[in-house]
Amino acid sequence: MPSVLVTRHVPDGGLDPLLAAGIEPVVRPVDDPLTGAELAQAAAEHDGLVVLLTDRVDADVLVAGARGGRLRVVANVAVGYDNIDVAAARAHGITITNTPGVLTETTADLAFMLILAASRLCSTAEADLRGGRWESWSILGYLGRDVSGATLGIVGHGRIGRAVARRAEGFGMNVLHHARQPTGEPGYVADLDVLLEQSDVVSLHIPLGPETRHLIDADRLRRMKPTAVLVNTARGQVVDEEALAVALEEGRLFAAGLDVYEHEPVVHPRLLAAPRTVLLPHIGSASVETRTLMARMACANVVAVLAGDRPLNPVT
Ligand code: DGY
Repeated sequence: MPSVLVTRHVPDGGLDPLLAAGIEPVVRPVDDPLTGAELAQAAAEHDGLVVLLTDRVDADVLVAGARGGRLRVVANVAVGYDNIDVAAARAHGITITNTPGVLTETTADLAFMLILAASRLCSTAEADLRGGRWESWSILGYLGRDVSGATLGIVGHGRIGRAVARRAEGFGMNVLHHARQPTGEPGYVADLDVLLEQSDVVSLHIPLGPETRHLIDADRLRRMKPTAVLVNTARGQVVDEEALAVALEEGRLFAAGLDVYEHEPVVHPRLLAAPRTVLLPHIGSASVETRTLMARMACANVVAVLAGDRPLNPVT
């Protein structure tokens, strides 16, 4: 029977596809991230790994897997796979899979919640209330920005970006989108800078890669309206956090709603102190239903590869 390690704990029922295939996975007693050395050792000892985005499956890990002669599949319980060196996996004939689709609506819900919460200064207002600083209702208190009638610029036109667009239409927003290739759909803006200049809210829905690292840098932040709101539920490294904190401090940007950070779980101290921010700890897909489906999908991919079948969600 093949040996499969699940590196972190997953919701109840998440391992069902493995169990149904007669594979009793190795589950670590503690739910903390493995070190690189531990992950390399695991890669050498197992036929399949179910990993989370906290696991850095780099070339060293994959070489260890290849040398061990067993590792055939690494299933990421995430749609993003920037934690995995896909080229190294390909070079060693190790299949990588991810979990697209099942988290689309849950993540889009959270992105839209951040659009609303940041636009309406919810974190600032709640912090004041909890801190005993709410002294009186005031007509000038906590004045946010309306989303209704505002222009939303969506960067990326994948499943989640399109799901956010659907929500925005229900809220009466004008929706623009930018993608590297023309989408042929209404609202397409070919030039990212133009989209940034025209949008009242910008929401990022692009994968992290060499061409998207710090896509939103100091120059691009300067192109945004001083009344604009930036929302990031994609990957932290897509935004230059230091530049974002400075833009918020200097009032060159109205607000930001963030779920992802450059160096998770560490958040840039300047961002923590920046005004008008809503900061969440990478919970875009965090519902019981969705996280269970993600784990099941990853396990089903492992079962398929170990049975010699094509997985449902290979990363190519
Ligand atoms: C992903 O899937 O890539 C998210 O960041 C976590 O759900």
